[in-house]
Amino acid sequence: MRKPFVAGNWKMNTDSHTGVNLAKSLASGLSESTGKSVDVAVIPPFVYIPAVVEAVSTARIAVGAQNVYIEEKGAFTGEISAAMLKDVGCTYALCGHSERRHVIGESDDLINKKVSAVISGGLLPILCVGELLEERKAEQTSEVVSRQIKAGLAGLSAEKVSAVTIAYEPVWAIGTGLTATPEQAQEVHALIRKILGEMYDGKLAEEIRIQYGGSAKPENASELMAQQDVDGLLVGGASLKSDDFLAIIQAAV
Ligand code: 13P
Repeated sequence: MRKPFVAGNWKMNTDSHTGVNLAKSLASGLSESTGKSVDVAVIPPFVYIPAVVEAVSTARIAVGAQNVYIEEKGAFTGEISAAMLKDVGCTYALCGHSERRHVIGESDDLINKKVSAVISGGLLPILCVGELLEERKAEQTSEVVSRQIKAGLAGLSAEKVSAVTIAYEPVWAIGTGLTATPEQAQEVHALIRKILGEMYDGKLAEEIRIQYGGSAKPENASELMAQQDVDGLLVGGASLKSDDFLAIIQAAV
């Protein structure tokens, strides 16, 4: 059985005060038993990571980073390494979030190097994939997601890939209020698991967790996570309100 995994991507939101308050109210609102049955992570902006790590330290809440650089250290002005993130208490790092693919222009090849750097640095990557609206309309969803999974994990051994979580985030559902239907999510999640089975083996494919992301909220969390291959949620907007995020976590129990 795959343990549910719910993560809140704060994106470029909060300030030091509201971020720490959000982290503290999640820490106090998450019951011991829920924290045992669901893996929970918050993913704040880089600069608030140490304060958020401190604020959630009393609870079973891990902290992740929204991005990472591919090198360990050196003359890479403005970049942050996996080792630095681990040093300040991070457990996870997002790789290839759609906003980094489509706003910042990250390529599949760069994302692949990030996944590898994250694992080598002792963190757990969350590899995000998902099609644009025009790609869905053109019935290219399978092709796009398949390419992103294969390229994102290229060259990684089965042992390394066992550290990865996949997040399927259809770009047209992110921040739009449009959510994939549970059936649409399940169809792509099953495809991702099939691809993993072909790239590695059936056992590994069964063990890897696949989150859904895109306008997840308390009202749709249960039906999404009731799908056989939906193992949790990567939540944006609704993770900025502690009551909503706690309700989503509870839906995963
Ligand atoms: P929303 O939940 O705001 O649609 O964002 C999803 C997302 O991009 C999480 O990484």
